[in-house]
Amino acid sequence: MEIIHIAAECYPAAKVGGLGDVLGALPKYQKKAGQFVKVIIPCYKTKFIQENNFENIYDGLLKLGNFKFPYTILKEKTGKLDFEMYLVSIPELFDRKEVYGYEDDIERFLSFQIATLDWINSCEKIPDVINCHDHHTGLIPFMMLYANKYEKLRNVPTVITIHNSIYQGKFGFDKLYYLPEFELTKVTVLQWNNKINSLATAIKCASAVTTVSPNYLNEINNFAYGLESLFNLVRHKSTGILNGIDMEVWNPAEDELIERNYSIKDILNGKQENKEKLCSQFDLDPTKPLFSFIGRLLEEKGADLLPHAAALALSEHYKEINILVLGSGNIEIENQLSHLLTGFKGNYNVFIGYNENLAHLIYAGSDFLLMPSRVEPCGLNQMYSLRYGTIPIVRRTGGLKDTVIDFGDDGNGICHDQASIADICYSIQRAVKLFQDKKSFNKIRKSGMKIDHSWENVCQEYIEMYNLIHK
Ligand code: GLC
Repeated sequence: MEIIHIAAECYPAAKVGGLGDVLGALPKYQKKAGQFVKVIIPCYKTKFIQENNFENIYDGLLKLGNFKFPYTILKEKTGKLDFEMYLVSIPELFDRKEVYGYEDDIERFLSFQIATLDWINSCEKIPDVINCHDHHTGLIPFMMLYANKYEKLRNVPTVITIHNSIYQGKFGFDKLYYLPEFELTKVTVLQWNNKINSLATAIKCASAVTTVSPNYLNEINNFAYGLESLFNLVRHKSTGILNGIDMEVWNPAEDELIERNYSIKDILNGKQENKEKLCSQFDLDPTKPLFSFIGRLLEEKGADLLPHAAALALSEHYKEINILVLGSGNIEIENQLSHLLTGFKGNYNVFIGYNENLAHLIYAGSDFLLMPSRVEPCGLNQMYSLRYGTIPIVRRTGGLKDTVIDFGDDGNGICHDQASIADICYSIQRAVKLFQDKKSFNKIRKSGMKIDHSWENVCQEYIEMYNLIHK
């Protein structure tokens, strides 16, 4: 089967969050399972893209309303990837360092979608399935069904995989003329709450809808930022498929980015040496339990609760614990977290930024990983942390509920229900007690390391779903 994934991110070419990780792994395992897989993303000015070679395979001119943009399709030829990656290079719109966050994001991603379809449409071979990811690619299923120029692709089944329903790609009907000519009677399909809504359109038009965990699918029927009733209408074509993790990239026994490799057998020495390295790098005390947070500093991730929760936990347990934060995002949260340094030096540190290499060492060297998310469609960090023998502390939401069970219920982590400072601090207190009970602590760490969240199994679920919609 020929599968094309279209998305805004794909590790290692471009990654902002978990979306990039999934696109860097799922295609690789689908290919291993015998499928023919392509991934298409925009060509940004990222380090990987600048430092590697790509071959120009197609030149085009895309039309966005009255605007015309020359573009090229570049094929990855570094030999570093396990699947075929294609970049859509539209220099005027994407020759920039950041993936998102520009005023013309609507124009950028619409152009990306149109250029991508123009190119696929021009190819001789028609793919068996097109898997779109999140709202940046949400108008593709609509255009394939109703735009005159893509008639050839009309019968190709499409999937929209939802990694997050907060972001929907909404814009006004004043920009309707950007879209290629389509059957005008279908204009209402684009609409949700008086706007053109890319994600809602994808949900209506795609042959199948998937979310990145089963529990998130349950939740969005009641809570989906205005799309609840729509999700209820499409239950018959929706599936929750839990993400996997790339067990080759995230493997403490072979990870070159950590201080010392280890497996379950030598977990004690392995974790301790990594912890010592991490603590010396961040001026922390390796004899005390180390709680870390890795991720985007956004309310959605509960990061706004961190500064206060950390201050409270550090003062209550002063010198009994260490807290380390790695992330960037909301400036106010960044400032509050940096400000904490003045009061708690020696037990607290923060690295503002994104640093993939450091993340590996933090998973290896920490005792607990904090994930107080308000919304977490799947969450990958808790799975990385389990793999490295670090106990996740999570709020029971989305995919966190599917993957982390409280140790009080014979599970592998620590769970709380509310997105509140009190709940986070209570979980930290329980963790400190657990840390002192070395026998139970080690037993839980080891049982976490044994869990198999590999993509091998998950990618079969995707293939079964493609088979159902492929006529
Ligand atoms: C988004 C979600 C996260 C999920 C990831 C990959 O970043 O917020 O929960 O794990 O996508 O699907």
